Amino acid sequence: MSICSAAVLISGSGTNLQALIDETASGKLDLELSVVLSNRSDAAGLERAHKADISTECLRHQDYPARTQFDAALVETLDKYEPDLVILAGFMRILTATFVNHFSGRILNIHPSLLPKFPGLDTHQRALDAGEEWHGSTVHFVTGELDGGPAVIQGRVPVRPDDSAAELSARVLAVEHKIYPQAVRMFAAGRIEYRDGSAWLDDQRLIEPLQWPIK
Ligand code: GRF
Repeated sequence: MSICSAAVLISGSGTNLQALIDETASGKLDLELSVVLSNRSDAAGLERAHKADISTECLRHQDYPARTQFDAALVETLDKYEPDLVILAGFMRILTATFVNHFSGRILNIHPSLLPKFPGLDTHQRALDAGEEWHGSTVHFVTGELDGGPAVIQGRVPVRPDDSAAELSARVLAVEHKIYPQAVRMFAAGRIEYRDGSAWLDDQRLIEPLQWPIK
C-alpha cells in the first residue's frame, strides 16, 4: 500500500499539527504531510510546517466574497497535492457541502469536547459551567453537520473543582496530542473508514467511539 498523503488545515498555534509532525518524524506514524494550509497568515502553525520542511499555503478567507468561493479555492489548492486525507487541526472556518462532498469520507476533525456534548465554541468554559466531572476531545469524520460526523476516538480528562478554562484546555490539549495521531495512524493503515454514515474499524461499524488509551 502506498503511503497516505495528508493535508493539514490550521488557523492557529498548531500544537496538534506538531504532534503529527513529531510522530511522523519519529517513525511512529506512516504518513506524508504534503501540505499545511492556513486561512491566517499569522498562524504560528505555519512556522512549525516551515521548520519541518512541509509545503505551506495561505488562503485568507477575507479575500473571497463568499464562503462558497473560499471553499472552491480551498479545493483547487488542496487538489494540487492530491491528499488521501484532509486533517482539520484547529481550522476555524465552517466548511460548505462543496468542500465536504469533494473530500467525502476523507476528512477528520478534532473537537475539544466529548461529542455529542458541547458542539461549537467555548467548550471548556461550557463544560465547567455545566458542572461536568469529565471533559475531553473527540476525533470524528466530517460530514455536513457541524461537529456532528461519526466519532472515531475520544480522550477523557477529569475536571478538577478549581479548574479555570485555561487549565482544563491545557489538560485536553495534552490528550488531543495522543488521540489525533492515533486516529490518523488507523486511517493511514486503512483500519478506519467512513461508510454509510458511520465510522468503521476493521470492517466493524463503530457503535461507540474508541476510548483513549486503547486497550
Ligand atoms: C484544539 O483544541 C482542537 O480541538 C480545536 O482547536 C484547537 C487547536 O489547537 N479544533 P492547536 O492549534 O492544534 O494547538
